[in-house]
Amino acid sequence: MGTSGFFRTKSIDQLRQQAERSLLPRSLTAFDLTLFGIGAIIGAGIFSTIGTAAAGNPADGRLGAGPALVVSFLITAVACGFTALCYAELASMIPIAGSAYTYAYATLGELMAWIIGWDLVLEYAVSNVAVAISWGDYANAVLGQFGIAVPRWLAMDPRTALRLTDVGEALHRGRLDLYGAAHEGSANGAQLFQHWDVLSTAPSIGGIPVTCNILAVVVTVLVTWLCFVGIRESARANAVMVAIKLVILAVVVVVGAGKVDTANLTPFAPNGMAGVQAGAAIIFFAFIGFDAVSTTAQECKDPARDLPRGILWSLAICTVVYVAVTLVVLGMVRYDELAGQADPLSYVFQRHGLTRLAGVVAVGAVIATTASLLVYQLGQPRIMMAMSHDGLLPPWFGKVHPIYGTPSNSTILTGLLVALPAALMDIGEVVELSNIGTLFAFVIVCIGVLVLRVKRPEAARSFRVPGVWFSAPAGVIACMWLAQGLPMVTWVRFFLWLAVGLVFYFGYGRARSVLRRT
Ligand code: ALA
Repeated sequence: MGTSGFFRTKSIDQLRQQAERSLLPRSLTAFDLTLFGIGAIIGAGIFSTIGTAAAGNPADGRLGAGPALVVSFLITAVACGFTALCYAELASMIPIAGSAYTYAYATLGELMAWIIGWDLVLEYAVSNVAVAISWGDYANAVLGQFGIAVPRWLAMDPRTALRLTDVGEALHRGRLDLYGAAHEGSANGAQLFQHWDVLSTAPSIGGIPVTCNILAVVVTVLVTWLCFVGIRESARANAVMVAIKLVILAVVVVVGAGKVDTANLTPFAPNGMAGVQAGAAIIFFAFIGFDAVSTTAQECKDPARDLPRGILWSLAICTVVYVAVTLVVLGMVRYDELAGQADPLSYVFQRHGLTRLAGVVAVGAVIATTASLLVYQLGQPRIMMAMSHDGLLPPWFGKVHPIYGTPSNSTILTGLLVALPAALMDIGEVVELSNIGTLFAFVIVCIGVLVLRVKRPEAARSFRVPGVWFSAPAGVIACMWLAQGLPMVTWVRFFLWLAVGLVFYFGYGRARSVLRRT
């Protein structure tokens, strides 16, 4: 047992014994883990956020990377690569399902473990808000293909509706300059104009127009129900979903490559390095998920050997796919056409008159993001359950359903935590909040590796980070650089979130911690 107080740690031996007592069947191989990683990684990030990352947002002054978004992807992949190596070492040492939460408990102590557990809500539940919104956007496009029009006030969050109304009014009154410079003559400008009146068509309550993203709510409720009744994503089901994702993205690359006009790639970096950094801070979201592989630690045949492989292979494969897709998409249209585009991968094909293919991509995106949604919607309640078992959250969170054998209360709570914001929030702000939370967890994991190298140099490690005294600090610096690219409002929200978490820790978990009481 480690020191007392905030810095008391769970010992590695204690955690290993806990893993050995696990009753979960061990069936996953390195191949399954790689597929699981790809399943978690590829989702809303590549299907929905690359438009905003490339074009920026002229309305709030956010810079776009332009075609240099490819560079953003490469830099982010390197940052995630350093972090993935650190995850791989810790996963090989501490093969237990709590991921960063458990690593923090073993290295930096209980207070930091609590902070990370609380912070992981941003990575799991909040990222799922973004994935649900993305799902809704693509599902809306698919329904449109079948001639089913969801009323616009039921397919848009209030903030986006408000922003479009402002833009629309400016357009209407001929005050085009702000937006017009970027969008005049573009299909997107026309689309914005067409959408500007969402608020005027929405019903109102007490004079205030109401809009919401109903499809995002519907999918969240359905997925939560699946998680509640215990339908887990088996390795085979995941493999099918991963195959669909990869096929769709391969189609985008192969067919799209024929439509690339290299003129679209100039100017390559319209906003220089600042744009590349801002783009990287957004598309970091697309990489989240390689770390989720470590949550399967207790279900692997040989976690010490296979977890590092699954983490590193899934990241490497997704990086190659992302770079290829981004190059092709940004070669197909001018980057500024993608501003505010909720379904950019489908849009670029529509723009080239390949409507049927655009429909196929949209259907693929719906399936791909469903898998992502399911993985995180399963993961969040299990982290809550682990924290409850450690006494840091009330027993209510750890309650297992007598029939379905799932953490039922936490599952329903997660459903609410995802569905309500998904109805009302803008995908951009959700992605950024999720990114800052995940980057914080990544920084802690990189530091944790160094702590254990010092505190437990002799402990068995089947995977060792090469050049750890360079790689781990490089991971910390790279993650902090990415976080620095996020807007101030995101930092403020992040610190507020952590502050609320600390209130809970001091009000509840600190006194009830199982580790403290033993
Ligand atoms: N990486 C996951 C996605 O892009 C979170 O949806």
